[in-house]
Amino acid sequence: MSKHIIHLVAAARPNFMKVAPLYHALSAEDWCRPILIHTGQHYDSAMSQAFLDDLQLPKPDVQLGIGSGTHAQQTGRVMEAYERVCMEQPPDLTVVVGDVNSTIACAIAAKKLLIPVAHLEAGLRSWDRSMPEEINRILTDSISDLLLTPSPDGDENLIREGIAPSYIARVGNIMIDSFERLKPTIEATHTYKRFGLSPKEYAVTTIHRPANVDSPESLERVLEIIMSTSQKMPVVFPVHPRTKNRLIETGLHSSLEKSGSVILTEPMGYCDFMGLVLSARFVLTDSGGIQEETTHIGIPCITLRENTERPVTITQGTNRLATLENAEELVALALSGKWPKGRNPDLWDGNTAKRTVACLKEKLITSEKA
Ligand code: UD1
Repeated sequence: MSKHIIHLVAAARPNFMKVAPLYHALSAEDWCRPILIHTGQHYDSAMSQAFLDDLQLPKPDVQLGIGSGTHAQQTGRVMEAYERVCMEQPPDLTVVVGDVNSTIACAIAAKKLLIPVAHLEAGLRSWDRSMPEEINRILTDSISDLLLTPSPDGDENLIREGIAPSYIARVGNIMIDSFERLKPTIEATHTYKRFGLSPKEYAVTTIHRPANVDSPESLERVLEIIMSTSQKMPVVFPVHPRTKNRLIETGLHSSLEKSGSVILTEPMGYCDFMGLVLSARFVLTDSGGIQEETTHIGIPCITLRENTERPVTITQGTNRLATLENAEELVALALSGKWPKGRNPDLWDGNTAKRTVACLKEKLITSEKA
């Protein structure tokens, strides 16, 4: 029997943690062969290669080398390049993850060539259509053949949008598989030592959402929160390239550097960064994935956003949304050590890749025979 070919699409930093556990699990199966496709949406070594290395992913089988651009440019270039790959050697199935531009681009290219698409991390909704990721989520889910959700809200959102329940499977949170798999390495990093810090005596911040960094006014307001936090406790700030560009353009980078109270650093690899988060008192972020990782490990997370597509991190976990008005209050609560305890959501257990493999096998083999 020839092996089923499964494309796994990775594009940007948060995708690698989602693709890696599935790549490893599929590699151990005898009925299929995973092919790693890197679209090149993220290309800096710190945003890409460092993650491939940490997550023990091989050199991608296919590099599309797309790079940066406007939304339409980036999406269009990925569609063209990925379509070419699929026309040369069509896979039996394409797996896309998350909500970045490459996710929707590859889903469209594959679907129009009649290649089945599975979306891993399906069903998440922020209900905020000004977010590029929300558009990517809605569109990807609406055309995928298999919708693999991390939590019950995902299933409910999809059903509300008219997706047949038979397309939906709740598999859990794939990012947590990466964390569990690399936990011993993460625990051994002691990243805080590099900054002369002690466990629970510092906070971590990451900011990169367009809504927070693209206009000088919002960037300034977010920096005020970070700076005022840093007056109370050291704050380590690994700076995303988008944010760095904006900080430099607005002249805010040098004032932040001069302030001396925020520890600015380059983006970190996966294990170093998770090691830093593991020993932090709390995290101040606008990332999607970090809301989930902090919920899993029980670290207070203050999310500088008006909404989240990951509501279980609030209803069950340690995440709270911050507005400019209540950010100070939440920081004070995190500093007091009285942050409400959360619980780990169901199926965020390190076994999501296994459940996903079972769903893919069912889709490709069992249902074929039926
Ligand atoms: C993208 C995703 C976002 C995800 C984030 C994680 C979309 C719409 N957005 O946003 O959902 O949370 O990745 O980082 O897909 N740049 C570099 N080097 C790189 C990558 C980017 O310098 O390796 C710079 C470029 O100037 C680029 C800018 O950062 O224009 C933004 O990159 P882009 O991939 O367009 O979006 P992100 O903000 O990273």
